[in-house]
Order: sequence, then C-alpha cells, then structure tokens
Amino acid sequence: SIDKGLRPLSLEEYIGQNKSKEKLKIFIQAARDRKEALDHVMLYGPPGLGKTTLANIIANELNVNIHQTSGPAIERPGDLASILTNLQPSDVLFIDEIHRLNKMVEEVLYPAMEDYCLDIIIGKGPSARSVRLDLAPFTLVGATTKAGRLSSPLRDRFGVINRLEFYEQTELQEIVSRSAAILDVEIVDHGALEIARRSRGTPRIANRLLKRVRDFAEVKADGIINRDVVDAALKLLEIDELGLDRIDHKLLETIILKFRGGPVGLNTLAAAISEETETIEDVYEPYLLQLGFLERTPRGRIATTKAYQHLNIEQNID
Ligand code: ADE
Repeated sequence: SIDKGLRPLSLEEYIGQNKSKEKLKIFIQAARDRKEALDHVMLYGPPGLGKTTLANIIANELNVNIHQTSGPAIERPGDLASILTNLQPSDVLFIDEIHRLNKMVEEVLYPAMEDYCLDIIIGKGPSARSVRLDLAPFTLVGATTKAGRLSSPLRDRFGVINRLEFYEQTELQEIVSRSAAILDVEIVDHGALEIARRSRGTPRIANRLLKRVRDFAEVKADGIINRDVVDAALKLLEIDELGLDRIDHKLLETIILKFRGGPVGLNTLAAAISEETETIEDVYEPYLLQLGFLERTPRGRIATTKAYQHLNIEQNID
C-alpha cells in the first residue's frame, strides 16, 4: 500500500491505543516464552485506526510470517483449506473484514481455530467419509468494523478481543510529526497539531492530509508546513475546522433540511445522498456519533442541536 513506509513495525514505535498495546505486549511475550502460538486475536473498530498495522506488528513481534487475506476473498471451503495447510508453526493468518466470511467457510474455521485441524469429506454418497487433517498451530488475527455482525460461535473462539478507539489529538500530532520526518518534510508543531485536529481521530486520515498539505506547501509556499499552510490547503480540500468533509456536510444537511432533523432510516438517507449504507455506517457515522452530531434511534438517524450549531442552521423546535 502507498503508506507502507509510514506504518510502524513494532509495538514500541506504534503510537496510541495504549490499552490494546499493553495487553498485546504481555500476551505476545508469554506466547514467545512458552514457544507456543499466540491465542487468536480479534481487532475491531472504525476503518483507518490501525487494525492491519497491528496485525503486521503482532507477526513481527512473534518473529513469524503473516498471511493476509479477507472475508470476501475466501469464497469456498477449499480456498481456506489451502491457506491453512500452507501455514508454518505459530504463523499469523490475518483475515480482514472477517464478518464477511460465508457460513460454509466459517464451519471450516471452527475446528481449525479450536483444535488446529481440518475435517475433510472424501467421496460422495454412501461411501463418503470424513478425514481429520492436522494443521500447524497458528494465530488467527481477525479484523472487522462490525463486531456486531460476527456470529457468536466465531466470536467465542477468539482468546484476545481488542476494540480500537479514535486517537487523541496529542497522539495524532505525534503520528503526523513522525510521518513528516519519514517523508522528509519540515513541519512546525502548530501545523502538526492543526492536521491532527482535523483528522477525525484517525491516523489514516492524518497521513493522507499530511501528504496533500505537503503538496500544497511545496507548490504554493516554501515547502515548510505551518499553521497557515494547513489552513489554506484544507480550505482547498473542503475540510472544515472539525475535519468534516463534503459528504459529512451533505449527510447532516440532508437530515436537517430534507427530513426536518430526523429520524430518518438509513436506507432512505443513503438513497438521498447517493452513498452506500455500508459506507455511511462504517466510514461517516462513527465520528459523527463520537462528536455528538448524530444519534441512532430505533426509528432512524437524528441530527442533534450540536449539528445544527456547527452547520449554522437555525433549529425550529415544534
Ligand atoms: N501511522 C499510522 N498509525 C500509526 C500509529 N498508531 N503509530 C505510529 N505511526 C502510525
């Protein structure tokens, strides 16, 4: 991926997610000391918070190989069987979007996770028989934005469950400064802080904004990123003081102006702004909920008074 050079390779370098980091550090060391495979790890939370990065770090810290795939990429039980039979002892298998595994594939995963084995059916009809195949002990690292979509038999087979949280501003500022050093671009502290403020608690967004601001600094200024350069670049990108972009604005404005503040159902809202329901749920809503601009109710989404204030729209209480 394009931000590979920016990704930390060890827990030591990884900024933020202190609770997850503290736990993982202990469980990784214990597994290493016992020379056993680490228990299966579930990472969940909004996109861009570092699930893939952490999976790679876990493999690095364990000194093992990582095999990366995703729920939708594993179409048939045989696809999973061929991945599992190619694992070396203690290897990490990383399955992104694990909530999208189909039922038949999930059934193969249960005995693999629980007993490191595969049950294969050989032949058809009355002469069919089941053969048990042993696998190397391995660690499944599963990632999802939707922990609620996991079946409970799958969820129950993870020994370590970590929820990733939005990052603090100081943590994001540190990430931006670190990334700027790697990219060899000069940035002043107030510049890094301003990018951090507008990154929606998300390192992936912070690093993306940093790259665009660097472009702007090089073309329109002297190459140094200061507060003014950040302000001007983000104005061009239509990113507001809180980091909200055109789609966030469209979403809130639609609830307020078209649906009188809500409640409005997710499908109706998605159709009104021409976005997929999944994108709204996974990408846009989590931060708007965190800001307290949006509420989810059984009858649909509601824009809060805070949202009206931020958009400068008068709220008529009727
Ligand atoms: N780059 C992206 N995420 C990071 C993190 N959590 N720590 C350090 N650098 C990062």
